[in-house]
Amino acid sequence: MNTYKLAVIEGDGIGPEIIQSAIRVLEKVAPQRFGYEKLIVGGVSLDRHGVPITDEAMQACMDSDSVLLGAVGGPQWDNLPGHLRAERALLGIRKELQLFANLRPARLFSMLKAASPLRQDIAERGFDMLILRELTGGIYYGERGRKTDAQGNTIAFDTETYNQTEVDRIARIAFEMARQRRGKVCSVDKANVLESSRLWRERVHIVARDFPDVELSDMLVDNAAMQLVRNPAQFDVLVMANMFGDILSDEASQLTGSIGLLPSASLGEDKRGMYEPIHGSAPDLAGKNLANPLATILSLAMMLKYSFDLPEEAQRIEQAVENTLLKGHRTADIHDNDTQPLGTREMTDKVLQEL
Ligand code: IPM
Ligand code: MG
Repeated sequence: MNTYKLAVIEGDGIGPEIIQSAIRVLEKVAPQRFGYEKLIVGGVSLDRHGVPITDEAMQACMDSDSVLLGAVGGPQWDNLPGHLRAERALLGIRKELQLFANLRPARLFSMLKAASPLRQDIAERGFDMLILRELTGGIYYGERGRKTDAQGNTIAFDTETYNQTEVDRIARIAFEMARQRRGKVCSVDKANVLESSRLWRERVHIVARDFPDVELSDMLVDNAAMQLVRNPAQFDVLVMANMFGDILSDEASQLTGSIGLLPSASLGEDKRGMYEPIHGSAPDLAGKNLANPLATILSLAMMLKYSFDLPEEAQRIEQAVENTLLKGHRTADIHDNDTQPLGTREMTDKVLQEL
């Protein structure tokens, strides 16, 4: 039997705890199929090596079959210059591994409707959407800098840039994903103002010609932010530029009840991907056995499905998470007053029992 090489980045804050949960689950569903190489990345790497990620750690990611990541960053590293921020490690891995497609599924579990901040009648209708975020272009990677004008006024700038190849490849994935879901793509942009958005919209419509069976609509990003709260059930696949996806995926996650529930997959042209919860390192919860491990466990399920062709194992994990929630087990972020919240380890035990 082949063993896969997994690069494991615990990172900072709650990272080590949630990664430990995920690995316990992985060993239960696919025992001894994976070898783990733990890499020091993020704030821990800044402390130890003076850089957010070393060349060796980056190379290890490149040589792996996939990367599983907890979270990086924290307040103690927040005042470092831009190129030494812990988040830089994440942006670097995305770019080096060319992981241009970021999948962020957001679904309202029926038993968590009460935890959602949505008005009851809207929550009742539920939602199940996939936010597809372009991940290696746009303003995150465009030219940036500072200069001083003739009056001595300091100017800072960041540039939103997209080329047609970048838009085409993410659009194509959106349509392919929609085919496996409910056949609808909503492309989000700001084409009433931004030239980069006008190219985006143009290209998405050109790619759409190859997918006549998929229904395409366009929506301006400000309207999309509103529609997510007003009528989230209308959405199937939403595709958008890097920063729009960063923002709207946090909004969508909160609609599900907690940011602690949302997994993500970052994919490129080949099988290798990076898998991480969409939440951050939550320094205030770190080391206290309080973090919700479900987003990381669900990220693991995505990894088995997209990178390792193990859809049944993925399905088992997703079902186990759902059953755990159905039985009323809750971590502190999603619990209501009638239940005693479980810790990270105990919640993981419950998921393991369902497997
Ligand atoms: C995310 C995060 C990152 C991003 C940060 C940590 C750089 O917010 O994955 O959504 O902005 O992409
Ligand atoms: Mg974000």
